[in-house]
Amino acid sequence: MIAVKTFKMVLEGEGAVDGEFIDIAIPGFYLRRPLSICDQEDGRLTVIYKVVGEGTKVLSEMAVGTELEVLTGLGRGFDADACREEALLVGGGLGVPPLYLLAKELKARGKKVTAVLGFNKADEIILTQEFETVCDQVAVSTVDGSVGVKGFVTDAIAALKPDYDFFYTCGPMVMMKVVCTTLEGPGEASLEERMGCGAGFCYGCSIQTKSGPRRVCKDGPVFKKEELTW
Ligand SMILES: Cc1cc2nc3c(=O)[nH]c(=O)nc-3n(C[C@H](O)[C@H](O)[C@H](O)COP(=O)(O)OP(=O)(O)OC[C@H]3O[C@@H](n4cnc5c(N)ncnc54)[C@H](O)[C@@H]3O)c2cc1C
Ligand code: FES
Repeated sequence: MIAVKTFKMVLEGEGAVDGEFIDIAIPGFYLRRPLSICDQEDGRLTVIYKVVGEGTKVLSEMAVGTELEVLTGLGRGFDADACREEALLVGGGLGVPPLYLLAKELKARGKKVTAVLGFNKADEIILTQEFETVCDQVAVSTVDGSVGVKGFVTDAIAALKPDYDFFYTCGPMVMMKVVCTTLEGPGEASLEERMGCGAGFCYGCSIQTKSGPRRVCKDGPVFKKEELTW
């Protein structure tokens, strides 16, 4: 456990390790549970998840070494090449983990990276030290003001006034809507939808975009800001 009801899981095995998320079969549950990739190194994947229902509860109670059946290589991820020089990452809660892998990819391309990470309160904070080792600048906001700027990520951005030419965001829909509709310049958001097949077949995760219906699992979960209708 790395924060309240929040767990880190490292997976190793065979299969593709690219993609934005994995889909885990949990014994006793018909549908798989999608989780974003937080890190990947030497064929190992790290995911960070919060226990919100029965599936994630069962996952959190599994012993180290348990064998899982996992679909990997799913989804279209963030485009690290879309940033020219300076990137702004805006994460909220359990939307923070996939931005960590992105931060590493941006730094590997020589970009300047600022991360603004928002949480409700201190005991929900995750990964800030990891971001500090990778990013040029990290700002934290908490709704109750217990750590960092009091308020939302937008309050922390207003206080920091970071330079950026492209932003990337992942978190609660309401946060991403505010970020995408108030931040200037181009950007991308990683959406969440309840999923059926997770691989593009059932259309259960479809959303309406400016260019028509799109599947979050296959056409996304990352979409350009200008495609989204909110
Ligand atoms: C592409 C993608 C990436 C994700 N990455 C992460 C991640 O990195 N870490 C993480 O903790 N969670 C992530 N999620 C959400 C995660 O998949 C759900 O929290 C999980 O499937 C819940 O399973 P459960 O059986 O515990 O809960 P359930 O019993 O299925 O549901 C419990 C509660 O959680 C809500 N819920 C369940 N699934 C979702 C969902 N997909 N979106 C919004 N609300 C949901 C339900 O409405 C319900 O209120 C991601 C979802 C998607 C689609
Ligand atoms: S979940 Fe089946 S198409 Fe996306």
